Amino acid sequence: MNHTERLPRNRTYLMCPPKHFTVEYAINPWMDSTVPVDAVLALKQWEMLRDLLGDLGHQVHVLDAVPGLPDMVYAANGAFSVDGMVYGARFRYAERGAEAEAHREFYALQGWKFAGPQHINEGEGDFAYLPAAYGGMVLAGYGFRTDPAAHAEAQEVLGRPVVSLRLVDPAFYHLDTALAALDDRNVTYYPGAFSPASQRVLAQLFPDAVIADRADAEAFGLNLVSDGRHVILNTEATAMGDKVRAAGYLPVHVDLSELKRGGGSVKCTVAELRH
Ligand code: ARG
Repeated sequence: MNHTERLPRNRTYLMCPPKHFTVEYAINPWMDSTVPVDAVLALKQWEMLRDLLGDLGHQVHVLDAVPGLPDMVYAANGAFSVDGMVYGARFRYAERGAEAEAHREFYALQGWKFAGPQHINEGEGDFAYLPAAYGGMVLAGYGFRTDPAAHAEAQEVLGRPVVSLRLVDPAFYHLDTALAALDDRNVTYYPGAFSPASQRVLAQLFPDAVIADRADAEAFGLNLVSDGRHVILNTEATAMGDKVRAAGYLPVHVDLSELKRGGGSVKCTVAELRH
């Protein structure tokens, strides 16, 4: 198979250190509050990911961790930005509710235009943006966390078409556990995480998508961050690494084993700031 060279684009990211990371409640099937977390290891793994993104030439902002918010390390859930406009999060579960305000303050300090949401949505957990697909398209997941009413709200706030996709497998409760943008126009996804109708929608919109299987999704191989060339994914996701390499991208594996215990991996811990 022949590919034009995959070119990276410099990104700006937001991350939050796992300073107060624990698994003390269970709001997704991956969380087991009876096994203690290795906090030192979690922080070390997180720092390696942060340093890697910096080494690849990207800018990483760091949000201070707030005591009592153990899931705050999953910074992707705090908001969703497109072309300088931020659509704020509103969490499904009370345990994470206060994270939204910490993110809002960050964007306010940076002078972003910010829209507070009426409807429940978990930021980039359930929203992805493809700037060069159909002139700029938002993909949005629902079924477990984000309320479908938030999809229409996001479309009004962001002025981009939002395509709603129904998630059907509780193991893949956020869109970013089942689908990822590989570059400005293409995606990879695990079809089985979506309803049959949503699978047809994805097949129609993205005929060149890299198709993942259940094992890839279970290894959190779809919970990846790509700059258009480097695809950063969990060490367990070796088969997924091979698939993106075959499609012309460069897989870079990082060990985030401790953060998987909260039900997240690379993408969950990295929010993209789209100016
Ligand atoms: N424990 C967190 C939750 O269940 C994990 C969030 C993972 N984040 C993500 N973007 N998928 O809410």
